[in-house]
Amino acid sequence: MTDPAADSTASPARTPLFLDCDTGVDDALTLGYLAASPGVELVGVGSVSGNCSAETGARNTLDLLALLGLPDVPVHVGAHDPLAGSFAGGAPHVHGADGVGGTSGRELPRSAGEPSGTSAARALVDAARERPGQLVVLAVGPFTNLALALDLEPELPRLVRSLTVMGGAALAPGNVTPVAEANVHNDPEAARRVVEAGFDLTVVGLDVTMRHLFEEEHRRALLDAGTPVGAALGAMLGHYFAFYTDVFGRPCCSLHDPLAAAIALGDVALASAPRVKLTVDDTDGPGRGQTIADLRALYRGLPDRSPEDPRVVLEVAEEFAPLLLERLLPL
Ligand code: RIB
Ligand code: CA
Repeated sequence: MTDPAADSTASPARTPLFLDCDTGVDDALTLGYLAASPGVELVGVGSVSGNCSAETGARNTLDLLALLGLPDVPVHVGAHDPLAGSFAGGAPHVHGADGVGGTSGRELPRSAGEPSGTSAARALVDAARERPGQLVVLAVGPFTNLALALDLEPELPRLVRSLTVMGGAALAPGNVTPVAEANVHNDPEAARRVVEAGFDLTVVGLDVTMRHLFEEEHRRALLDAGTPVGAALGAMLGHYFAFYTDVFGRPCCSLHDPLAAAIALGDVALASAPRVKLTVDDTDGPGRGQTIADLRALYRGLPDRSPEDPRVVLEVAEEFAPLLLERLLPL
């Protein structure tokens, strides 16, 4: 990996990043955040069934990338079904029937782009092999494509630089069941395989994402920006806010996926992110989909267990919403 600090005359290399997602309103914010990050080279995007089907997610991603001025980023359709069972239909009550709050073909225009024809799992493996030790992987949907990529390339954890996922809840309540977060709950078998695979893994779960919110003032600022991107994101946030009004008692939303992106890129400081043993309950009882983080060391000041263990983010040191808005407004 190039160290820009080693040669002050070298222009800093952009960070190659592969995104796997289930686009989705907060996934759309994430695409915007990445597009607005000059230090990032988005080398590919995989889609997976979650908020909507993998096919719909790929369509939304293509349309968003075109709107964001990145029509050449390849988009790869990934797994329709989880490792066990079948796709259950997504979360239209949260993200709309089209996954983007009813904006598809309206505020979010349909683009000419088409998916690559390569599966998301294969594309991820190829991207990792092309730049060993360099690729930053960000997964903000169910982990099915990552598990399939591990089947194709068991050395994947050592081929990539890092993996950051939005998923799980270490100490916080779940958002699908009392204990399970949606991305993990949608494919617990895949999630368990991925968290135990030996990646340099950072887990951004509900412990932090439910505490970083976009409010009506942020949505209004996007609409008032007078840009096509602001109009599309502002309109889809309207749908998303309606769901979260029942959760928080006012129109707003959690910034799940964009916060994970910012953490993957080191854009926000972490106040508490211990490395601890982590697994996922993939049994059929009431705990299905729960992430089980061994945080017993909390009682004695949370020392890191070992560098091989996943890093579980429990607290972010700064407010994220202003940074996200600042990135999105000029788009
Ligand atoms: O639980 C929140 C996560 O589930 C986010 O990634 C959201 O987009 C959905 O996929
Ligand atoms: Ca998502």
